[in-house]
Amino acid sequence: MTQDEKKQAVARAALEFVEAGTIVGVGTGSTANYFIDALAEIKHKVDGTIASSEESARRLQAHGIRVMDLNSVSEMAVYVDGADESTKHLCLIKGGGGALTREKIVAAVADKFVCVVDDTKLVDRLGVFPLPVEVIPMARSYVARRIVRMGGQPELRQGFTTDNGNVILDVHNLDILEPAKIESELNQITGVVCNGLFARRPADVLLVGRDSGVETLQIH
Ligand code: 5RP
Repeated sequence: MTQDEKKQAVARAALEFVEAGTIVGVGTGSTANYFIDALAEIKHKVDGTIASSEESARRLQAHGIRVMDLNSVSEMAVYVDGADESTKHLCLIKGGGGALTREKIVAAVADKFVCVVDDTKLVDRLGVFPLPVEVIPMARSYVARRIVRMGGQPELRQGFTTDNGNVILDVHNLDILEPAKIESELNQITGVVCNGLFARRPADVLLVGRDSGVETLQIH
């Protein structure tokens, strides 16, 4: 199977977690796009969706799927999204597509976070993929200096502005032995909006696309 076929397979498998009459959180990226396309086939079953980016909102709407404002809902049964890296404990690095802040907000609201990845995303230790950090533009240099003090090498994502009007620092070579600790430490830096570590709120279910089929990992 190609990487794209594996992404398609996990996206389709995630439909099993979509319950009739509920609101579905929808992530961002190529795997999430496959999920949106699959969701279109059962769109009359769901009450609506919450999109984690403008891009996903446009794709959902193009399929005629209702996109709602998160502030108008109090419950979300499931959130389906991809990741850039995942451990077997379901701690993630996300934000390769730059949507990490909205993704983290939608994941926080969801009862269940189903993460969909191909097997190239599974790692023993997070951090080969540079960690995205969303930063208020005027704080960019200050935050970068603080990250250097933590041992990371921040690189400004060129020509990119998030849906929230901010910039992204992609941080290389950060020691992420304790993901939840680093997640909190980065969030303490004034000017940081959010970082791409999902350790304090990891995924609940990880669907991994392999040559042999879709493997399900669950921590509780
Ligand atoms: C976007 C994300 C994506 O989930 C992540 O980058 C994976 O993308 P893809 O499914 O295209 O491999 O976090 O901000």
